[in-house]
Amino acid sequence: MDLKKRLLDLISPIEYDLILKPDLTNFTFSGEEILNFNLLKNSKKIILNAKKLIITKAILISNSKEIEARISYKEQEMLVLFTFPKEIKKGKYKLKLAFNGKLNADALKGWYKSSYTINGQKKFLATTQFEEIGAREVFPSVDDPSAKAVFNISLVVPKDLTTISNTIDKKVIEHENGWKTVTFTPTPKMATYALAFVVGQFEFLEKKATNGKLVRVFVTPGKLSQAKFALDVACRLLTFYEKYFDIAYPLPVLDLIAIPDFDAGAMENWGAITFREVALLVDEKETSAANKQWVAIVIAHEISHMWFGNLVTMKWWNDLWLNEGFASYMEYVGVNNFFPEWKMWEQFAVLDHNRALGLDGLITTHPIQAKLESVEKISEIFDEVSYSKGASVIQMLATFLGEENFRNGLRYYIKKFAYGNASTQDLWNALEKVSGKKVVALMDKYTKKPGYPIVTLNKNQLFQTRFFKSNIIRRKTKDSTIWNIPLKSITDKGDVDLLISKKSLKLKNDFDWIKLNKNETTFARIIYDKENLAKLKLVIEKKIISPIDRMGIIRDIFDSAESGYTRLDLALSVAKSYKNEDSYIVWAALLGKLSKVKNLIDLEDENKFNNYALSILSEIDKKINWDKASEDSHEKILLRSLILSNLGEYKDSKIVEKAKKLFELVKEKKQKVDTDIRGAVYSIVAENGDEKTFNELKDLYINEEMHAEKNRIGSALCLFKDGNVIKKALEFSISEHVRSQDIGRFLVISFENKFARDAVWKFIKNNWLLLITKMEGIGMDWIIKGAATITDKKLYIDIKEFFKSHPHPKLEKTMSQVLEQIESNIEWKDREEADLKKFLISNS
Ligand code: BES
Ligand code: ZN
Repeated sequence: MDLKKRLLDLISPIEYDLILKPDLTNFTFSGEEILNFNLLKNSKKIILNAKKLIITKAILISNSKEIEARISYKEQEMLVLFTFPKEIKKGKYKLKLAFNGKLNADALKGWYKSSYTINGQKKFLATTQFEEIGAREVFPSVDDPSAKAVFNISLVVPKDLTTISNTIDKKVIEHENGWKTVTFTPTPKMATYALAFVVGQFEFLEKKATNGKLVRVFVTPGKLSQAKFALDVACRLLTFYEKYFDIAYPLPVLDLIAIPDFDAGAMENWGAITFREVALLVDEKETSAANKQWVAIVIAHEISHMWFGNLVTMKWWNDLWLNEGFASYMEYVGVNNFFPEWKMWEQFAVLDHNRALGLDGLITTHPIQAKLESVEKISEIFDEVSYSKGASVIQMLATFLGEENFRNGLRYYIKKFAYGNASTQDLWNALEKVSGKKVVALMDKYTKKPGYPIVTLNKNQLFQTRFFKSNIIRRKTKDSTIWNIPLKSITDKGDVDLLISKKSLKLKNDFDWIKLNKNETTFARIIYDKENLAKLKLVIEKKIISPIDRMGIIRDIFDSAESGYTRLDLALSVAKSYKNEDSYIVWAALLGKLSKVKNLIDLEDENKFNNYALSILSEIDKKINWDKASEDSHEKILLRSLILSNLGEYKDSKIVEKAKKLFELVKEKKQKVDTDIRGAVYSIVAENGDEKTFNELKDLYINEEMHAEKNRIGSALCLFKDGNVIKKALEFSISEHVRSQDIGRFLVISFENKFARDAVWKFIKNNWLLLITKMEGIGMDWIIKGAATITDKKLYIDIKEFFKSHPHPKLEKTMSQVLEQIESNIEWKDREEADLKKFLISNS
């Protein structure tokens, strides 16, 4: 924690009165502020956070006396200093300020402008993104999650514009000059990062949730028909979480706002949640099932933050996971309640658990309870560890405590710390107190230490050791951490409850076969000995265990092969037991792992690998076709597009031909091809297409209004195999046709394309400063993240040197993770090359 830059020991804010006037013609704003605060010690100076603000007036009011301050700035530290002629005694004061600032034009943070078009005319709106330290760009404050205060907000804007903030407008005064002052009801005590000020032309839908609270969905003009799904889901979730946490939603209104330019997916400003359009808008015909699910998940995530994050806030950013890990867990609780047929907990195992095991297998990971050297480094920990590992260890804890204990503990915690701040330890204490179980003993290692265990079964003995993804690291690093590993397990004789708390554990050997870690709820991996694995193959084929358990086995065997705990040809032969699989999550995991193997393979062997993959897909290929039936389940719809795109990827000729035909139909009229398979069509024609196809897709992108469709097309633009076309796709990503929020997708997807790697790396080097400016914010790591797929030594050396000569505080962690992963890929490829060739000769 960077105490030097925290202001809490000098001043404690109580209430802010803010009058803000954004100017959407000149893209500036001005503000007046009265800050009510407690000065905690005698001082000649008062210090607040401020960045890029020009403060024109600063007057301290003390017993109705006014004292003018001298204003100076420490720009690097993002501070403004008010110096007084004489020492001010500790006590309560008001500070009156006036200031000006600029609306951000490049970065999507602070107060920034976003654009949309109406009848071909470009229009602007102004919106805020304050998490984590954007508030200080808009008004002087103690911009710290622990400095909670009440905010009285007024916005001064032209009469025809809509204003949205955290609460509801209680008063509107119209001025003669065509402007109005909109005043909002006071907020509860809250953190600066969750404030929001949105001004622009909006349309909205509204509805009362069953708990009587008003819920509204705001969109830019013309998109209102896409707001209904979000409104319904938000109303239901608001009531659901109120019951779950057993504490009422404290604000008069919940607004959900679709913003055309947005860095993250969504932001949980209290009562005024902002979203990317794709994360909020649903068109009943045009939105794919996957996208609709994503919308529900994001809404559920952000609404759960109204309690976990906004009502109770982490004391400091090192405990960010308390916000994000919890919301990433609660999103599944919420969505699963309303859409059980979506099987969200199965998907959790792939979307969160699996992803977390990936990043946290690197030595360059970090503990969930992070150490932060400075505020600039906060954005680095918005990653799979805080989100997905956080959610996974919470799932483990909830399983360990039982649902009721877990929920009661949370209720106790939320009530105890409402309107205040808490730490990880506070949460453990609450759960321990309510459940009577040893929470700290279970959780400590998972949250304070990096990484997680891999458990090896050898005859009747289990051993634990830290899992490393890279064979290089695995061989040279000793880590003596011993985790407590609860392992509910399945055997042919029934379920057993195991707990490993030492280096090893002896099992009673009264079973024929065992699948450890039932439902994959413990954050660990397993490798089995040969005998047990041979038996598990039959268990898999006969589907005696659940999809999550079948998925866990194949995931772990491939990942263990990557790091050399086991052999790749073994994993590839176990994969053959999955031919009769029909579960979406199992295919998602298995095909994900196969594509990592394909990444190691040289062009000359690609056909052989394609044949091997097609043989695994041969049965499902017979069951899946392009046409949707009205009785298709959500799972079937997701499965269809997954299988079709993979069949295309592995060059199933009939699939490629059909995709080309469907693309002809798309060109006549998009709606002629079902939205759930359109993504697969675009990818397959791109993988097999030329410059003409590229231009057609590009035009579709440019003329498309809907963001979700743009994303599908945009991804396909990165999949061409011709070097010239690839260059065009990359140039297109920074043209005026692509919003800066979407550039990252282009880069990451291009890196997945073997044929594009040299070009995309060159492009990034050539445009480094431009990309850094355009993508500043949480999406910045997307500039380089995709490079983790590289297996080429020359490229590696170049990247390493470039990273060294272009350090950036917000990219330091991602850079080291990318390098660790590439080193591991290269070693993996070298190690397996010969055996892989042999395997493919006899298996294609
Ligand atoms: N608080 C975050 C948004 C955020 C992230 C702001 C990083 C500032 C920096 C929000 O709650 C969030 O986590 N959004 C996710 C949604 C998801 C995990 C469902 C996102 O944007 O991807
Ligand atoms: Zn979140």
